[in-house]
Amino acid sequence: METINQIIRERRSHYPYEFTGAKLNDEVIHTLIENACWAPNHTLNFPWRFIILKDEALKNWLQLVLYNFIKDTPAEKFNQKKADKIKDYQSQVSHAIVLICEHESDNANKHKEDLAAVSCGVENMYLSLSRFPNAAGYWSTGMGTYGAGMRSYFNLKSNQELMGFFMLGAVDKKRTESNRKDYRSFILTNE
Ligand SMILES: Cc1cc2nc3c(=O)[nH]c(=O)nc-3n(C[C@H](O)[C@H](O)[C@H](O)COP(=O)(O)O)c2cc1C
Repeated sequence: METINQIIRERRSHYPYEFTGAKLNDEVIHTLIENACWAPNHTLNFPWRFIILKDEALKNWLQLVLYNFIKDTPAEKFNQKKADKIKDYQSQVSHAIVLICEHESDNANKHKEDLAAVSCGVENMYLSLSRFPNAAGYWSTGMGTYGAGMRSYFNLKSNQELMGFFMLGAVDKKRTESNRKDYRSFILTNE
């Protein structure tokens, strides 16, 4: 019987090189997004927005990621292994969910809260993967998230922020181990 402690502590990021290349059922993707929408959000303003990339749309976007990587990396820093790794995503990744935060006000504090709420939603996605033994993924803020052109590629409005991508794929078996420091080391004293 899975406990909440187990689900939280055994949740792991899994990366494209670990994916088998099999396609996930759309039900997985919709469960993740539906559960993301149950995350806490201040004043119930639901700041999250999602775009599902699969099939042709996924392929086109991954081609853009590779193109941007080649174009934007200075020759002296260019790493062919990294380029090959991105090329391999084409055969490994099943779906990507574009993570977008939409702000309804210009208030900087509200913006922080919106980003926090979307992040809570992404954690719900991560945890929801525990329902599917062969579906895994991770939150990527790579893939050109902050690069020029990615906002316009997804036609983002001026009040929308790109928060990265939830990259998903099939795995044979999930990893559960991780290194974490003793939680007590994060508790500050106020004396
Ligand atoms: C906001 C955010 C952005 C992340 N971006 C990346 C990324 O660009 N590339 C990557 O390999 N992992 C990324 N990760 C995943 C972390 O590397 C991962 O959570 C961390 O290594 C701990 O592993 P675990 O998730 O298995 O506990 C990101 C995680 C968060 C929360």
